[in-house]
Amino acid sequence: MHNDIERVLFTESQIAQRVRELGQQISHEYTKLLGEKLSQEPPIAVGLLRGAVVFLADLTRAMTIPVEYDFIAVSSYGMGSTPGQIQLLKDLEKPIAGRHVLLVEDIVDTGQTLAHLIELLRARHPASLKICALLDKTPRRTRNVTIDYVGFTLAEDAFVVGYGLDYAERYRNLPYIAALKKSAITT
Ligand code: PRP
Repeated sequence: MHNDIERVLFTESQIAQRVRELGQQISHEYTKLLGEKLSQEPPIAVGLLRGAVVFLADLTRAMTIPVEYDFIAVSSYGMGSTPGQIQLLKDLEKPIAGRHVLLVEDIVDTGQTLAHLIELLRARHPASLKICALLDKTPRRTRNVTIDYVGFTLAEDAFVVGYGLDYAERYRNLPYIAALKKSAITT
């Protein structure tokens, strides 16, 4: 285990198992929803950069239906910021009007980022918009957001890293999800 890690919350094999289940569930539900239209108009998995990259790569490979990729990036915000201050840093490459969009997030914490993205994407009139988040971390939630597919729920307010999640751009490549030691947090 990495020296800066306090404790592992979800192991590599627990994540792999849960991601497989999510991939199957999502494939099943889009197959039911789209039937034969699946191959002409596959859903678009929209990954939120950068944290969702690892999860998106594994999740889509656990899906058994055709799927396209696109990516979006927004600025993070400091304490006390309001959702209106979230800036779009990188937009989608393609229009999503009339398309089925699966927004893939690594973690929903306060819910501000997700609430902002839902508003932004809905305004473009996708045929459907579903949300998949690996971690639903509930203690700091300030926005009421509905997540269609959740990997794991986290009821404690730990600083979480690994499997795409960072602290100061580090630890994203840890294969497990873990709580960071307080001593590793330098701010
Ligand atoms: C993290 C995470 C979510 C967001 C969740 O992004 O990827 O997008 O924070 O927080 P919220 O629910 O309180 O809005 P971060 O800004 O750390 O960027 P990253 O994806 O590049 O790690």
